[in-house]
Amino acid sequence: MRLAGKKIVLGMTGGIACYKIAELTRMLGKAGADVQVVMTQAATQFITPVTMQALSGNTVFADQWDTRIPNNMPHIDLTRDADAIVIAPCSTDFMSKLAHGACDDLLSTLCIARPSGIPLLIAPAMNVEMWQNAATQRNATLIKADGIQMMGPVSGEQACGETGMGRMLEPDQLFSEIVATFQKKSLTGKQILITAGPTFEPIDPVRGITNLSSGKMGYAIAQAAWEAGAQVTLVSGPTALSAPYGVRRIHVQTAQQMHDAVMTQLQIQNPQVFIAVAAVADWRVANASDQKLKKTSESNTPQLKFIQNPDILALVAALPNAPYCVGFAAESENLLQYGAAKRVKKNIPLLVGNIGHHTFGKEDNELVLFDANGYVQLPRADKQTLAIQLIDELAQRLVSA
Ligand code: CTP
Repeated sequence: MRLAGKKIVLGMTGGIACYKIAELTRMLGKAGADVQVVMTQAATQFITPVTMQALSGNTVFADQWDTRIPNNMPHIDLTRDADAIVIAPCSTDFMSKLAHGACDDLLSTLCIARPSGIPLLIAPAMNVEMWQNAATQRNATLIKADGIQMMGPVSGEQACGETGMGRMLEPDQLFSEIVATFQKKSLTGKQILITAGPTFEPIDPVRGITNLSSGKMGYAIAQAAWEAGAQVTLVSGPTALSAPYGVRRIHVQTAQQMHDAVMTQLQIQNPQVFIAVAAVADWRVANASDQKLKKTSESNTPQLKFIQNPDILALVAALPNAPYCVGFAAESENLLQYGAAKRVKKNIPLLVGNIGHHTFGKEDNELVLFDANGYVQLPRADKQTLAIQLIDELAQRLVSA
C-alpha cells in the first residue's frame, strides 16, 4: 500500500490516451490512494465519467458550476486536502493553459487555485507534430520553470498512426513516477551501481549451476534508489523480473560477465555508491564442455572441475578511489558473527546480512546492517519497505562519510 492515506486529484484532459487512465486509477486505488477524478469536457468525449466514477469510487467532477459542492467552489474544495494533482493525459491545449495561467474550466482553475506545496504532475500525450511545435516546446519550458513535474512523454507509436515523441507513459510508469513524488530525495545527484540476482555458470551449452536468488531484493533496492533521486544502473544475472522503471539494466549470465560489466560501468560512470546484492557463484566449471555432455553408459558421470570466480565486491572495494561499497551476506547460521566478520574481511563500510534460505524467492525479509559502529536490525517486512529503509540508512551514512 505505497499510497495509503494519499488523496490524489486525477485530472483528465482530451486525448485518446484517456482509456489508459482507467488502469492507472485502479492501480492508484489498489495502492491505497483516494482518487478524485476531475475531467474536462473534451476528456468526457474519450471515456465516460461513469467509468471513472466506478473505478475511483468517487463522484467525478467536470463542471465549474457543479451544484453538488455545497459552497459551489469545487476548484477550492477539491484541492485543499489533496496530496498531489496529476493531469493525465495532458493535452497540448491544457499545457498551454497551465503555461499561461488560464482558468476557463474547472480543471485549469483548480490547478491555479492549488495551494503551493501540492505537487502538480503532468503526463503529456499528443501527436508528434503537436509535441514538436515551437509553441508547445515554449509552453513545456515555462511549465518546468514553474516547478510542475513532467512525466514523459516518450517516443513511440501513436494512435494516429504516426511515430515519434508525444506518446504518454504507460500506466505502470506513471504509477512509479507518482509513488516517487512522495519519497524523500536523499540521493539526488548520486550515481549508484547495483548487482542483483543469481549468476549461471555453464556446465555445457544446455546445463549450468545457479542458485535460488530471485533478484527481488536487488531490484527493490534499485527502485528505492531511483525513487530517492539517484541515477541507477543494475547489473543483473538471470531473473524473471522486469527492470524497475527509471533504472538502466544490463543483463549478464556468469560471474565473470558480471565482473566485467561492473568494471566497465565503474570506468564510464564513476558511481559514488556500489551495492553488491547479487548471489554470485563462488566457483565456475573449469572444464565446461562446448557440446552437450552425453549419458553414454551407466557409469559415465561427468567429472567437473571448479575454479574460483573473481570476488567482485572485494575487487571494487580495493580499488583506489573506490565508491562507497555496500555488501550483502547470505548466511545460513550465526548471522551476527559471520556478518560482522565478512564486513571486515571485504573491507567495506556497510554490510547487509540476511539468512539466505529464509529470503531467497520470498516477498519479505529481515536485515541486519553492520558498520564500524556495530549493527542495526531492520525487522521483517516486505522487500520494498526494507529497500526504502536501507536507502535511508545508506543516505545518512553517505552524509557522514
Ligand atoms: N560477492 C561478489 N562476488 C563474488 C562473491 C560475492 O561480489 N564472487 C559479493 C556478494 O554480492 C555479496 C558479498 O560479496 O555482496 C558476500 O557474498 P557471500 O556469498 O555471502 O560471501 P562470500 O564472500 O562468497 O563468502 P562465503 O560464501 O564464504 O560466505
